[in-house]
Amino acid sequence: MTCFPRWYFDEWKMAGVDFEDTAQVAAFDRNQLSSTPEKEQALVQRLGISSGHTVIDLGAGTGTFAIQAALNGAFVDAVDISQNMLAYARSKAQKLGAVNIKFHQAGFLTYEHNDNLADFVITKAALHILPDFWKMVALMRIAAMLKPGGIFYLRDVIFSFPAHEYQTSINNWIEDSAKPEGEGWTAKDFEMHVQEEYSTFAWIIEGMLTRAGFEITEVSYPTPTFAEYLCVKKS
Ligand SMILES: C[S@@+](CC[C@H](N)C(=O)[O-])C[C@H]1O[C@@H](n2cnc3c(N)ncnc32)[C@H](O)[C@@H]1O
Repeated sequence: MTCFPRWYFDEWKMAGVDFEDTAQVAAFDRNQLSSTPEKEQALVQRLGISSGHTVIDLGAGTGTFAIQAALNGAFVDAVDISQNMLAYARSKAQKLGAVNIKFHQAGFLTYEHNDNLADFVITKAALHILPDFWKMVALMRIAAMLKPGGIFYLRDVIFSFPAHEYQTSINNWIEDSAKPEGEGWTAKDFEMHVQEEYSTFAWIIEGMLTRAGFEITEVSYPTPTFAEYLCVKKS
């Protein structure tokens, strides 16, 4: 077991939404419309995840992606810092007969992958939890978990708008995306994301990915506040 220095980031103190709360977990599973079984199965197909592949999902949440990857024959390590998220994900996996999933209570900065190097590492809507210095540490740890030529897929709230347009861009994002209470993420949720979490600019993330040893093979900015990267670990 690695012994981390005293100055190491304490990722057990979660920023933003408190997923240690059971009510938050159920609400999250309802509201996370970007992570339906159909959308996650489409991602599994797009990435080419199939029988015998090793897949690590970091910040796996309620497990929708991990379950779809396992149902497609992969061996999945679902990693999350939140015990409640993992318990919810485990019970969903049992109900759906997704047996090849190991659940680990750990995080980007503490998970130790002791099995075979992975074919795929996935992280969606989670890396923003870390400040930039620690994102870089996390990306280097991810590269070390992958086989040479292995795939890293990252999707998150990442800003591609010009920096000087930050006020209008953030206001427009919240105005366009917020839903009334009970129907999805509210304006308050978005405000808390910006205020307390660590979403950053695309050019910072892209510099980090390259320096961590990845080649970025596909980039897309579906909106000025979301980005998606498909990367290959360089040999
Ligand atoms: C917004 S959710 C995203 C869940 C899932 N990936 C999805 O696409 O729906 C973020 C998840 O990251 C987890 N998390 C928070 N801090 C973490 C850390 N340091 N390492 C790994 N996961 C963390 C939270 O518990 C939560 O389950």
